Amino acid sequence: MAGTELFGAEERKEINDVMQTGILFRYGHDAQRNNHWKAKDFEAEVRKITGAKFAHAMSSGSTAIATALAASGIGAGDEVIVPPFTFIASVEAVLFIGAIPVFAEIDETLCLSAEGIEKAITPKTKGVCLVHMCGGNANMDEIMAVVNKHKLILVEDAGQAFASSYKGTYTGLFGKAGSYSFDFFKIATAGEGGVLVTNDEETYKKADVYSDHGHNHMGAKRGMEDHPFLGFNYRISELHAAIGVAQTRRVPEILKKNRHNKKFMQNLLSKNKNITFSKLGDEAGDSATHLNIFLPDTESAKRVIDEFNKSGVAGFDYWFQNMYHFINQWDHLKNLQTVSKLPIQVLGQSQDYNKMTLPKSQEVVGRLITFGVKVSWTEDQMKELAASIIACVDRALKPVNA
Ligand SMILES: Cc1ncc(COP(=O)(O)O)c(C=O)c1O
Repeated sequence: MAGTELFGAEERKEINDVMQTGILFRYGHDAQRNNHWKAKDFEAEVRKITGAKFAHAMSSGSTAIATALAASGIGAGDEVIVPPFTFIASVEAVLFIGAIPVFAEIDETLCLSAEGIEKAITPKTKGVCLVHMCGGNANMDEIMAVVNKHKLILVEDAGQAFASSYKGTYTGLFGKAGSYSFDFFKIATAGEGGVLVTNDEETYKKADVYSDHGHNHMGAKRGMEDHPFLGFNYRISELHAAIGVAQTRRVPEILKKNRHNKKFMQNLLSKNKNITFSKLGDEAGDSATHLNIFLPDTESAKRVIDEFNKSGVAGFDYWFQNMYHFINQWDHLKNLQTVSKLPIQVLGQSQDYNKMTLPKSQEVVGRLITFGVKVSWTEDQMKELAASIIACVDRALKPVNA
């Protein structure tokens, strides 16, 4: 992943700016900070890439999605439609703002489908937490038609999809608010960090206040500002933001390389009839951080994984068995194992998480294997990797009596 591959003089320069003044806090201290405002610069870089009217840097993608939900007006007892294939943070965010997750089906885009969303709607549905998985983008025209028809609030968790766009609009900007993660495993990293984006000024102002204990950031004296409502500490530090600035500036170059490398690998792999690829709402807008391979079915995918492991092929995820990305392994969620009571345990579930079935999602994730695309791949390395993948697929799927 590019964020972890590229780290150098630019990042060090931005960090040193902060170290020289010692002002690690994003607000105030105007006289001492030598005009370094790294959180603001980070937000400006994100706005430049996405075209968002407003961006607010925060401590993580998790806190950014929780804030996006809260600032959009979603709270205790509201049903929110979520996908069963995501990083668990999206579901935790819904639970921890007091809302009730309701799972719906994904499709071959690896994101919620419009049909899945529509089937999961009940009179208590307030919103949809759409997750743009694996660097891609959902089928937004169809999804927006359902969201608008049922007057739902759309919040987008684009934690894995910074710089991905659909027909010219960047992920995160279709609904009320969206979020990106800049943790260590993303297209660009701040070490830890997240950015909330929105085109709605009111939502932005709420997010700004909510993520800093209610401070409205008006006036020069911290601690004396007004507090229109309660919030919490989801602030980013200037050190993290400094890294985010340098990394985000690299993204246009990373995108170019990712797209070239992904296409190169797809061209090689598509020669094998058992290998196909996940779909995108808009292929041209792919951030191309993930090479998502479909095998014919779950059993084939498992056999291929065995071959990869035997042959030393590395750099892939089999999400179907992953503890954090797919519902099959979320026993703690299904049994509502919590350290202390959550609103859902008082208000009641809308769905029995142990009994619900999501056959389409099972089928899609079961046959999916994802390789992280590397910006540093050479053509020789890609040829070697593609040849190893194909050899493993051929060995795993050869007819029994061949
Ligand atoms: C889809 C998605 N949402 C949210 C997050 C959480 O981001 P963070 O690790 O920055 O809290 C992640 C992280 O992997 C993610 O993939």
